[in-house]
Amino acid sequence: MNQSAHQGNQSVVVLGTQWGDEGKGKIVDLLAAEADIVVRYQGGHNAGHTLIVNGEKLVLHLVPSGILQPNARNLIGNGVVISPSALKQELAGLESRGIETRGRLGIAPNCAVIMPYHEALDRVREVARGSQAIGTTGRGIGPAYEDKIARRGLCLGDLLDGNRLQATLEPVMDYHNFVLSEYFQDKALDISRVRDEALQLGAYLQEYLSDVTNELHQARSEGKKILFEGAQGTLLDIDHGTYPFVTSSNTTVGGACTGTGIAPCDIDYVLGITKAYTTRVGAGPFPTELHDEVGQHIGERGKEFGATTGRARRCGWLDSIALARAVKLNGITGLCVTKLDVLDQLEEVKICVGYELHGERIAGYPADRDQWSDIQPVYETFPGWQHDTRGIKSRAELPANARSYLTSMEELIGAPIHILSTGPERDEGTVLVNPFG
Ligand code: IMP
Repeated sequence: MNQSAHQGNQSVVVLGTQWGDEGKGKIVDLLAAEADIVVRYQGGHNAGHTLIVNGEKLVLHLVPSGILQPNARNLIGNGVVISPSALKQELAGLESRGIETRGRLGIAPNCAVIMPYHEALDRVREVARGSQAIGTTGRGIGPAYEDKIARRGLCLGDLLDGNRLQATLEPVMDYHNFVLSEYFQDKALDISRVRDEALQLGAYLQEYLSDVTNELHQARSEGKKILFEGAQGTLLDIDHGTYPFVTSSNTTVGGACTGTGIAPCDIDYVLGITKAYTTRVGAGPFPTELHDEVGQHIGERGKEFGATTGRARRCGWLDSIALARAVKLNGITGLCVTKLDVLDQLEEVKICVGYELHGERIAGYPADRDQWSDIQPVYETFPGWQHDTRGIKSRAELPANARSYLTSMEELIGAPIHILSTGPERDEGTVLVNPFG
């Protein structure tokens, strides 16, 4: 393991290597103690980043997870889709807990906006898909990104001026109202009401707007440390994930560049977060899913319920084939393994080491999405450790079987473990190699 290559790193990306919910929030909060800036770059309030500090639970959806660290500046880059009403609610919730956001949070004015008609469209489309529903979070994420790509969407800056807003809103609402009422036989939305609400929200958010890209360029030239906070996970990436059961943004590392305006050569280190097993919320392929009592045990012990929607997560064994792909896709420097303690009581644990399609072993990750649904996992079985690992502070303190499970993970996935998280609290776990060097 080459550790000298990442000494004195300035820009660190933290992202999920699975289907999201890997525990990124806790790790970003931890690393933010050292960062000058924490920046979100994709997704929206579909994300739910849970932080537990001194026994108190806080779930963040849009605000970066550096907000609890008093010295960090928090930024939301242009790649994030923002629901102004959800953001206002989140900011008010933080303030009611005594967490100041004014002057500590900057938002790019060119962030695409999630409007009420996007949420309506997300909802009616999912109903119309029936058994083919994606299981979205219902937050309007997909429709908002569609409008951005179709070059008809609104950005936050459009909400600052009535005339500017009206000029963009009217044609786009005419279009969506037609689709809602004529195609889906649902209710059309009232344009003037949507406009008035948007203007009020724009006025509320105005003081947060900032040239995020410039702030990042400036910070880099001043030698400051920047933490890029990914949302969702690699397998939910619109290009590289299990399409169409994905989210609508690039959750892989390229999203950090396009979603903020930082250059690829200015990323020094990529931390990939993975659970010691796998979960997925929503529909779509999941080769290592467990439908038995072991899956149920993992779900219960891991408290596997979505932080945003409360839905029960599907649980299964670790998938080294998908993780090896994530390592390559993101150029992962080091891994952070979370929730090892959830497996503590099991007699044996398994890792998927290959895929079979129609009885034949295939080489790695399927290239054609059509193959996903028929894949059968090939497992290697490891003896369990049946010993409490919660809160353990070093790799050496772990039971031997847990240590060999982690070593096998590293070998199979092709990346070293740099952080081990052994419980939800900030101080439960150990940083073996500091991503900032
Ligand atoms: P959307 O992002 O709401 O459009 O949902 C698309 C898919 O991504 C669904 O399977 C969601 O369950 C999943 N998803 C979206 N956000 C998250 C997240 O933060 N964690 C885990 N899954 C997510």
